[in-house]
Amino acid sequence: MGVKIIKTGRKVPHKKVTNFDLEKILDTTNEWIKDRTGIINRHISTNETSSSLAIEACQELIKDKDINLSEIGLIICATMTPDTLIPTVAANVKKALKIEHSITFDINVACSGFLYAVSVAESMMKNLNIKKGIVVGVDLNSQLVDWKDRGTAIVFGDGAGSVLLSSEKNSDSGILSTFLDNIDDNDNSLILKNISYKTPFNNLENEYEFFKLEMLGPKVMKFAINAINTSILSVIKSSNISLDKIKYIIPHQANQRIIDAAVKNLKIPNEKFYINIDNYANTSAGSIPIALDELNKNNLLKKGDYIILVGFGGGLSFGAILLKW
Ligand code: UT7
Repeated sequence: MGVKIIKTGRKVPHKKVTNFDLEKILDTTNEWIKDRTGIINRHISTNETSSSLAIEACQELIKDKDINLSEIGLIICATMTPDTLIPTVAANVKKALKIEHSITFDINVACSGFLYAVSVAESMMKNLNIKKGIVVGVDLNSQLVDWKDRGTAIVFGDGAGSVLLSSEKNSDSGILSTFLDNIDDNDNSLILKNISYKTPFNNLENEYEFFKLEMLGPKVMKFAINAINTSILSVIKSSNISLDKIKYIIPHQANQRIIDAAVKNLKIPNEKFYINIDNYANTSAGSIPIALDELNKNNLLKKGDYIILVGFGGGLSFGAILLKW
């Protein structure tokens, strides 16, 4: 039995923020951002939440009449920005979609979250005999970044992407190979401390302490380039499908220069990498499924195409999934 992606969806906030908009609030320029990252726009929440974006991205998956809601036995949300910790974002999705019974939970593996969630969903669907499952990746990075720090604020955006997975008994398509790993972040290159509250038993001076994302950009970039190479080569090796047979590689959209380095190192033609960072910036757990949905909705994916999803992020986590469409 294999597990296959049968539908895709996405939702981003309605407000577009351009590099020119950022010039007005940060010591930066459109040219610098474009040249160093490939980013031109990003979507930033005004009133949207992680749950509202995830819900709308998932409503896309079930709008066709052929979807039987009672078959959806699993909903996993990958996010590091849940607007409610309890209930989980996945539980909010379940309620909004009016799915009566389903396993629901959130996971946080930073920007690698979507890949990890798909892998967990695949295993659970096989082990627990679940017919259909939803994985949604969503992040509201505008809540995490320090809007006074030009080194981090310019690279992130908000958004959600979703997939509907189906257990298929007699199909040679679906997920063929997965590689996931984590190396220690010895340089503290990506850190977001959690909020702490004063209690009668700790030494906190204020009622609470909260933190913003801290990132050593060039260190993350070095890690990311290696992570992409290792992950792509690992899924290729374990699937016995040669790199030239791959139709598209959908990378986590963090920086155009990271993707350019992968093109050079792996000698993969540029056009195989699907890139939409110009319009969304880095949406963390949302980035790979948003790109996948764009490819799918633009009818660029054909039955039988081999595709690699590859990502990396805080942790330091990384990985790839090779699938046959
Ligand atoms: O999802 C995973 C999370 N993160 C990533 O994947 C991020 C990976 N890293 C990156 O994308 C890049 O490192 C950044 C885009 C964050 C930074 O680009 P960089 O080419 O690595 O620049 P840098 O940090 O080495 O800074 C070079 C110069 C510095 O000035 P000096 O010291 O050379 O005078 C910075 O102060 O550029 C300056 N700088 C800026 N200038 C204008 C840094 N940010 C900006 C900015 N506008 N926004």
